[in-house]
Amino acid sequence: MADTITTLIPQEKVEKRITELAAQISKDYAGKELRMVGILKGACFFLCELAKQVTVPVSIDFMQASSYGGHTESTGTVRIRKDLDESIEGLDVMIVEDIVDSGRTLAFLGEFLKTKGAKSIAYCTLLDKPQRRVVDLKADYSGFEIPDEFVVGYGMDYAEKYRNLPYIGVVHLDKDGRTS
Ligand code: IMP
Ligand code: MG
Repeated sequence: MADTITTLIPQEKVEKRITELAAQISKDYAGKELRMVGILKGACFFLCELAKQVTVPVSIDFMQASSYGGHTESTGTVRIRKDLDESIEGLDVMIVEDIVDSGRTLAFLGEFLKTKGAKSIAYCTLLDKPQRRVVDLKADYSGFEIPDEFVVGYGMDYAEKYRNLPYIGVVHLDKDGRTS
């Protein structure tokens, strides 16, 4: 059956909020340089839009972690599939994520990067589902709090589909977790 996707946050609203986040980050990091670490693949659309609008010098790197299989529920274990390419020793680092759900991925990556000698580590996420949190994790920068719905678009996928939608949509799942 065809997937049903309804708009949760339209493109203009996403873009406006990213502009606001970039302004706040530019202010908070005035006089500093920032290493943004994007979490592949979901955060890449958000990171690009954000980085373009931040006015302090930004360098970027990527990591990939996985806690999800092809399903919409976390397995609980986080694995690093791709490590940093560059050292973060002595740098102000911002981990850029698409969405914080249980919080396990960001908490795990934050702890991992803390062992790499960064001067500071901040968490920045486009979306946050606070109702789903299982570990104590609060993002320093958060675009939108959303209800407990499975979302796609703006980098986020369902089984690798829909990342390129320019807005945030909700995928409607039947009770077996399949799209309806
Ligand atoms: P956490 O470790 O449970 O916080 O999960 C974070 C990761 O799960 C995110 O980086 C996403 O890749 C994925 N994820 C969580 N919720 C959604 C969603 O609603 N849509 C798409 N991916 C999601
Ligand atoms: Mg992700």
